[in-house]
Amino acid sequence: MFSIFKKKPSSVTDINWLGVDIHNHLLPGIDDGSKTVMESIEYISKMMNLGFEKLICTPHIFKELYPNTAETINPALQLVKDALSAAGLKIEISSAAEYMVDENFKISGDLLCLPSKNILIEMSYLNETPNIEKTIFDLQIKGYSVILAHPERYNFYHSDLRRLKRYKDMGVLLQLNLLSVAGYYGKEVKKAAEYIIESKLYDVAGTDLHHDRHLSALSSVVESGILYKKLGSYPFLNRQLFGVKS
Ligand SMILES: [Fe+2]
Repeated sequence: MFSIFKKKPSSVTDINWLGVDIHNHLLPGIDDGSKTVMESIEYISKMMNLGFEKLICTPHIFKELYPNTAETINPALQLVKDALSAAGLKIEISSAAEYMVDENFKISGDLLCLPSKNILIEMSYLNETPNIEKTIFDLQIKGYSVILAHPERYNFYHSDLRRLKRYKDMGVLLQLNLLSVAGYYGKEVKKAAEYIIESKLYDVAGTDLHHDRHLSALSSVVESGILYKKLGSYPFLNRQLFGVKS
């Protein structure tokens, strides 16, 4: 049922210019993303056809809702790897996590990271986490590089987006959700994303893909060439920092 992926040449109607997705919820059954392995394989197959060469899966780690650990994430990744192999789909796939940094967040043990100890964090959409700068500093002291997920989605920054600059001054990387520029999350988020793009404050981008509505919206902006037109020449570091192993 799955077409064997054939690498297409990079073009304005695919997303090979980004190549690596560093933020998604493609692992089945462990957060609010993909529900089953079949669903995961369907999404991944379509993402490969859009031009992704590598996927780093980042399930939520959020104590109250999704208390994931390596013990839940690693088996989910293995299920997907086995199913990809059974379906004859070849893509580099690995896992990290998206940590909710709220009052309950604790730095203990080895945190689940993207390569080179890059840790993806998020906050509530309602309020800035108290002492967020101290938490980031504490992570950095322990050798982690911090990536803040979708800064454009934090409504409390919309009235003064220059505040995001302080994260850059601290050495934090900012990650754009691709669907923000498509207006998927509303006009205000789109406007914020456009400001951050114009200000060249983003470092990396991701799909934050949870379900088929995200995939349809993404496919439509990619295949129409709209996403390339908006972002194709933006100097995202996805490949440079997290590229496919040669
Ligand atoms: Fe996410």
